[in-house]
Amino acid sequence: MNFSIIAAMGANNEIGKNGIMPWDIKADLKHFAQVTIGQKNNAVIMGRKTWESIPEQFRPLKNRLNAVLSRRTDFKAPDEVLHYESLTQVLKELANKNLDEIFIIGGGSLYHEAIRRAECQKIYLTEVQGHFLADTYFPPIPPEFKKTGETNLWSEGQYNFKFIIYEKNG
Ligand SMILES: NC(=O)c1ccc[n+]([C@@H]2O[C@H](COP(=O)([O-])OP(=O)(O)OC[C@H]3O[C@@H](n4cnc5c(N)ncnc54)[C@H](OP(=O)(O)O)[C@@H]3O)[C@@H](O)[C@H]2O)c1
Repeated sequence: MNFSIIAAMGANNEIGKNGIMPWDIKADLKHFAQVTIGQKNNAVIMGRKTWESIPEQFRPLKNRLNAVLSRRTDFKAPDEVLHYESLTQVLKELANKNLDEIFIIGGGSLYHEAIRRAECQKIYLTEVQGHFLADTYFPPIPPEFKKTGETNLWSEGQYNFKFIIYEKNG
């Protein structure tokens, strides 16, 4: 089944530092919720470290089927959260669930693996202007992805950012 990626990155493809995002942009969190919940029956797939980066009171992410990838057999999560040991396995299982859209929501290791898959058709990217201290990065966008949407520049506090959509062969 096809899937989308959603991420926010700095000018150097920065996405994370010490297990959290390098910025605090409420408008981006709101955008993330709007896109990934939609009016639909959607799923989010994330790596174990991204799962752990979500404050306990906000996880699982509401109104979306949550799936976490971990190779640890002792990975523990609430019953309603799906746990799989590979991207291939989770995509195969979710294909039977009559979902409208599947989102890969990070982090870095999963983005790098997912963006190369044929099923990856769309990337929702928040481009945050400026450089940030980081230890985790978004992969380069492959040339078969074309920009199909771009908002004006938004501002919140010290941050300026745009919401961009890339689609494969778009
Ligand atoms: N800016 C953004 O949009 C954004 C979004 C999400 C996250 N982030 C940031 O990204 C950072 C976390 O990224 P990360 O790369 O360190 O970690 P991650 O991708 O969230 O998690 C890595 C872990 O997920 C599991 N995993 C990943 N791919 C797997 C696969 N194909 N099969 C099975 N298990 C798999 C492994 O867990 P086990 O070790 O348990 O086997 C791996 O150690 C944080 O700083 C976070 O804030 C940023």
